[in-house]
Amino acid sequence: MKHAIIEKPAEFFKKEPALKHYDSAYANFSWEDYRKEIDWLEEGKLNAGHEATRHCSDKTAIMWEGADGRKKTCSFNKVNAESNKFANALRGLGVQKGERVFLFLPRVPQVHYSFLGTLKAGAIAGTLFSAFGLDALKDRIGHSEASVVVTDTNLKKRIDEVCGNMQVCKDMPALKHVILVDAEDDAGDALSYNKLVGKQSPEFKPEPMGKDDYAFMLYTSGTTGKPKGIVHAHGGIIQQKLSARWVLDLKQDDVYWCTADHGWVTGISYGILGPLANRVPLVLYDGRFDAEKWYSIIQEYKVSVWYTAPTAIRMLMKAGDELPAKHDLSSLRLLYSVGEPLNPEAVEWGLKVFNKPFHDTWWQTETGSILIANYPCLPIKPGSMGKPFPGIKAAIIDDEGRELPANQEGNLAIKPPWPSILRTVWANKEKYEGYFLKEWFTTGDRALCDDDGYYWFIGRADDVIKTSGERVGPFEVESALVEHEAIAEAGVIGKPDMMRGEIIKAFITLKDGYKHTPELDEDIQKFVKKNLAGHAYPREIEVVDSLPKTSSGKIMRRVLKAKELGLAIGDTSTLEN
Ligand code: PRX
Repeated sequence: MKHAIIEKPAEFFKKEPALKHYDSAYANFSWEDYRKEIDWLEEGKLNAGHEATRHCSDKTAIMWEGADGRKKTCSFNKVNAESNKFANALRGLGVQKGERVFLFLPRVPQVHYSFLGTLKAGAIAGTLFSAFGLDALKDRIGHSEASVVVTDTNLKKRIDEVCGNMQVCKDMPALKHVILVDAEDDAGDALSYNKLVGKQSPEFKPEPMGKDDYAFMLYTSGTTGKPKGIVHAHGGIIQQKLSARWVLDLKQDDVYWCTADHGWVTGISYGILGPLANRVPLVLYDGRFDAEKWYSIIQEYKVSVWYTAPTAIRMLMKAGDELPAKHDLSSLRLLYSVGEPLNPEAVEWGLKVFNKPFHDTWWQTETGSILIANYPCLPIKPGSMGKPFPGIKAAIIDDEGRELPANQEGNLAIKPPWPSILRTVWANKEKYEGYFLKEWFTTGDRALCDDDGYYWFIGRADDVIKTSGERVGPFEVESALVEHEAIAEAGVIGKPDMMRGEIIKAFITLKDGYKHTPELDEDIQKFVKKNLAGHAYPREIEVVDSLPKTSSGKIMRRVLKAKELGLAIGDTSTLEN
C-alpha cells in the first residue's frame, strides 16, 4: 500500500517550530556556532550535569507519579540542590573522578539527582534497567568495576544474591558502597540515601571536564559476546540539548513526557539531559504500560510533547480508538517515536486519533543523540526515519565503505565525529575500533536513502534482536539458557511479531533424561528472567534434535531464522550438519 506524504501546515503544531527551515539549517550548520550554549567553566572545560541544572528557578522540573499513585513535584532549584548534595556525598565517600557509580532504580526522581550529581562530581554514571537479573548485574556492575550502586531495598536483594555473604563480592569486586533510596537508616552494609545525602550542602562546584572526558555509560548488546559498555562524554550535551530543541521542538512552556526508562539511552539523553538543559518540565511515570493510564497521564499533566516507542504505539492502537476519545488530549502538540521501525499505519493512526502524526526518530546507544529524524518543519513520509540532523553526514555504504547511490540498499553509516558519539567501549578497544570502516562509523543497520534524502530502515545487518524496542543480544540469552539444568545447547533468534517488532525465540537441545513439557518451558522462561532480565526471556521455545553449526562449532542463527521464516537458507558451505 502506498502511504501519502503528510504535509503539515504551519498552524498544525500550535507554535512555530524552533527549526524553521531544514535545508538552510543543514547547509549552513557548524557546531562552533553553538559553543555559546555552554557555560564554559574554564577554557575548554564544561560539565554536562551542570549544563542540565544551572538554570535554577522555582519552575517545576519533574512531575513524578509512582506505580502506586503517589505524586511528587520538584523544581529546577530542587534538582540542582539535590544533585549538588549527591555530588558532595560522593566526595565524602572518597569517590574520585572517573570512578563508576551505577544506578539500579525504578523511575524515581533520585535517578535524576544521582545521575546529575555523579556527572557534576566528575565520576561516570552507569544506568541499569530494574528488570535486570543476576547475570546481567554481574556483567555490568562487575565488568565496569563500579564502586557505588544506588538502589532500593527491594532491588538490593538481587545484588545480595549475586554477592552472597562475601566480605568482598567476587563478581563485583570493586563495589564499596550500596546506597538505598528508601531506607531511613543505614541497614547493615548499605547506606541510607536520605541520611547520607540529606546532610550535605546544596552547594557544589562542578568538576570542570574536557569535552571528551567520560560522563555516563550504558551496556548494550551486540551480536556476539557479552554486552558492551558504551561510554559517553560531557561534550555530548551540546547535541542532546540542540536536538531536544530542533527535533522534539521542546519549549520552556511545554510539558514533556518521555516514556523511556533510564536503563535505555533514550531515558538519559531525552529523559534527563536534553529536556532539563532546555528548562523543560517533564513527567516521570513509574508504572507499567496501561493504555487507560497513559491517556490519563497526558490529560492530567497536560502533556504537550510526547516521546515514546513503536511497540507502545501499537499497543495503544490495539486498545482501540474509543479510549483516547474519552480523554481530553488537546494539550498534545507533537508526538515522537524511537527504537524500532515505526510502521506507516502507526504514523497515520496518530493523525486519525490525536490529529497529529507520530514523528519517527533514529539513533543508537552509541550515537548518544538523535541523528536522523522527522522534523516538525518537514513533511512526513510515513515509514521513513526522516533526514539527518544538521551537522550529521549520513550515507549508505557497501561492505568496503564506498558510498552507494540513492534508492540502493546498503549499510547505514555516519561520518564521525559528532559531539555525542561514543568515546570508547569500556575495557574493549577492539570492539570500539570495530565500529569504524574507513572514514565511516558503521551502525549495523541496513537502510536506503531515497531521492529526497529521506532514510528508510530495512533491517539489522547482524543478529541483534529488537523486542519491544529493547536491544537484546542472542549470545546473552543463549548463555543464560545453557545454564539451565535441562538444556544442552541453545540458538536464539528474533522472530518477527506484529506487536513487539520481534520476539525472542529459542531453539534448544535437551540433555539426556529431560522431556519437553509446558512446565519445562515455563521453568526455562522463569530461569532466564531471574538470571538475565524480565524482558529478555524467550517467548517461544522449540526443542530440536540438533542445532545447525559451522565446522568450528558456531551455531548458525541465520539458518535457524531462515527455517523459521520459510526462507532460502543461503550459503551453507560452512554448515557442518
Ligand atoms: O536497529 C536500529 C533500531 O535500534 C537500534 C539501536 O538500538 P538502541 O541502541 O537500543 O537505541 C535505540 C534508541 C536510541 C538501531 O541500530 N532503531 C532505532 N531507532 C529506529 C530503529 N529502527 C528503525 N527505526 C527507528 N526509528
